[in-house]
Amino acid sequence: MDIRFFEEERVFKIDTENTSYIMALTDEPGYLGHAYYGPKVSDAYARLLRTGDYPFTPDVNPRDKLGFLDSFPMEYSFHGTGDFRETAFKIRTEGGNVACELKYFSHVIEKGKPGIPGLPACFGDNALTLIITLKDAPTGMAVRLYYSVFEDNDTILRSAVAVNEGSGTVFLERMLSASFDMDDEDFELITLHGSWARERHIDRRPLAHGFQGVSSLRGESSHQHQPFIAIAEKNADQDSGSVYGMQFVYSGNFLAMVYKGQYDNIRMMMGINPEDFCWKLEPGAEFHAPEVMLVYSAEGLGGMSRSWHDLIREHLIRSRYKYIERPILINNWEATYFDFDSDKLLAIAKTAAEHGIEMLVMDDGWFGNRYDDNRALGDWKVNEEKLKGGLGKLVEDVKALGLKFGIWFEPEMVSPDSDLYRAHPDWAIAVPGRVAGLARNQYVLDLSREEVKEYVFKCLTDILDSADIAYVKWDMNRQLADLGSAQLPADRQGELFHRYVLAVYELQERLTSRYPDLLLENCSGGGARFDAGMLYYSPQIWCSDDADAIERLMIQEGTALLYPLSTMGAHVSDCPNHVVGRVTPFETRGYVALAGTFGYELDITKISGEDRAMIPKQAAMYKKYHGLVAGGDYYRIASYSENGYHDSWLCVSKDKSEGLLTFIQVLNRPSRHTVKLKLRGLSPEKSYRIFRFDMESGEEESFIPEALHGDTLMNAGILIPRMNGDFKGILLHIKTT
Ligand code: GLA
Repeated sequence: MDIRFFEEERVFKIDTENTSYIMALTDEPGYLGHAYYGPKVSDAYARLLRTGDYPFTPDVNPRDKLGFLDSFPMEYSFHGTGDFRETAFKIRTEGGNVACELKYFSHVIEKGKPGIPGLPACFGDNALTLIITLKDAPTGMAVRLYYSVFEDNDTILRSAVAVNEGSGTVFLERMLSASFDMDDEDFELITLHGSWARERHIDRRPLAHGFQGVSSLRGESSHQHQPFIAIAEKNADQDSGSVYGMQFVYSGNFLAMVYKGQYDNIRMMMGINPEDFCWKLEPGAEFHAPEVMLVYSAEGLGGMSRSWHDLIREHLIRSRYKYIERPILINNWEATYFDFDSDKLLAIAKTAAEHGIEMLVMDDGWFGNRYDDNRALGDWKVNEEKLKGGLGKLVEDVKALGLKFGIWFEPEMVSPDSDLYRAHPDWAIAVPGRVAGLARNQYVLDLSREEVKEYVFKCLTDILDSADIAYVKWDMNRQLADLGSAQLPADRQGELFHRYVLAVYELQERLTSRYPDLLLENCSGGGARFDAGMLYYSPQIWCSDDADAIERLMIQEGTALLYPLSTMGAHVSDCPNHVVGRVTPFETRGYVALAGTFGYELDITKISGEDRAMIPKQAAMYKKYHGLVAGGDYYRIASYSENGYHDSWLCVSKDKSEGLLTFIQVLNRPSRHTVKLKLRGLSPEKSYRIFRFDMESGEEESFIPEALHGDTLMNAGILIPRMNGDFKGILLHIKTT
């Protein structure tokens, strides 16, 4: 790891263990250009800026300044003075002008990694940070660009701060966090798309001229698109090929874009979505744009995933639970929906305790008159008709059975049919004079208002202080529309989306500081707010409301492209599955949930005795392999979404002494050879034995009798026996001899 400025060449060079990132300043007037990003190189090499090509720099050829600005590989692009591509930065002055020209002013290189006020950001000591200040003289706007690297990771953390050093008010209309330009090398674009119950499926397509990418305007990162974008060489696969990935440490509206220009040059950008965003900066004020994780991998998509998994585990998640075993939970949502009382919950808890489950989570429906999803959000008072004797009694009864207790909240919302809304209708986000639209019959609270935020915090802490609660599921079940705050002035209404996200962060910061031992799981109608921003506050996020083992293969494959398995909320759920109606074996559901936090979401008192009897064995399986899943390196071995028949992934311990391979045969195929899998990530020289976990006995049995070297297992591969029927699974433990 190194960051240096080469004075004579006017070049900045950032090195991580395997990559180099090079920027250079032009002679007067000092534009900051992007020269190179990719595998590590030795030289402070800036010729690739092509300033020797026509139209040259404006000091050499002032008559064609616009031509220069429209083709120069800009490091942080700005709007309104001749760069006609999509840009990263746009301001409007009080006079209504949008011209801006950012030129180099100064830089510093510091030890460490600064945080970002009010926003989630990576942290750690073994880091270096470069801060480059650019300025637009006529308006007095300054932009500070941040680049941080850690000793142990190839990711570059980027963020930016805008400072109004002028004398007039300026409106930020576009302030992306990161942007850089390079040549297209026949790249393809990779993004994740989805919907409710079908989150994070992988999309891959060739780059075309013009702009392309994904975004959210829903007030959250969303089911539909992930705050992530990558470009990859055409043949880049799991093991090889160049991949450039950007991921946003943010949970609101975003834009992730690639622009391909007239010279086949590309610009990759990420930041807060400029649509419906306008931030007023009075003289002296600053605006902090959230962090972007930028990585280059020469080891294909797998290399990108593993860099980010390590970064997220080591430098982003703060919760003390990040590596340690989470209690195996049982959640009553699919078991009872709203139809429960303490007797029902205790019956579930009793049987759960007898089968090795460690925590009962009481989901939606325990407060106010919440008998269905049409009412009572905001009224966070225990419904004692359901919880006879109150919450404290229920928690003590559950604890007496040997289980911990967890609870569901949806603190950001209010139902029109609630005491809260009747008392404070103006606390809901709405445009004066318009009837705001409902979603799931609820409104969103205007968390930009202090009194609303305080009310929410008090509701949470009143409940958490009233009983011994080990876990909170923080849900968020609708998107933001009809944006309007009764309190913000007209020229600050464009700040509401971002202020909302800042308030959610502040609330979760306060909550996790006040209850450091609390296990927090974020959730948003399943996985609509599964992003790196939320992982700063909670070590796990509910992946999807679809817990069908087969649907989950694709959801979890896309999720694991970016996030460590330890973050993925995954449960063995009821069958026929409540979303798709599919029936899958209990055993297979267990193997798929093992790739996440592991738990149950069903009525344990009603499932078959045979399935119930498997629970203690699955619990033992989780305990046995959790360390490998949560702390190991992740390798994708086969993809059902690509081949249509089977799926497989492998977790390898950091010292490569063991691995855990999961294979799911989705559909059986007649007249085919057995499937051959080539393993990855093992040590070529080490010798391994392979054991199969037998769910019936809960024991391991030999799978291949002889010991084999890692090189054999990775190059020649292993055969997976054909299993009769669909939706079958196998779990293999690979251990050094
Ligand atoms: C969301 C969550 C579910 C459940 C319900 C309760 O949909 O994703 O797991 O908690 O809300 O209303």
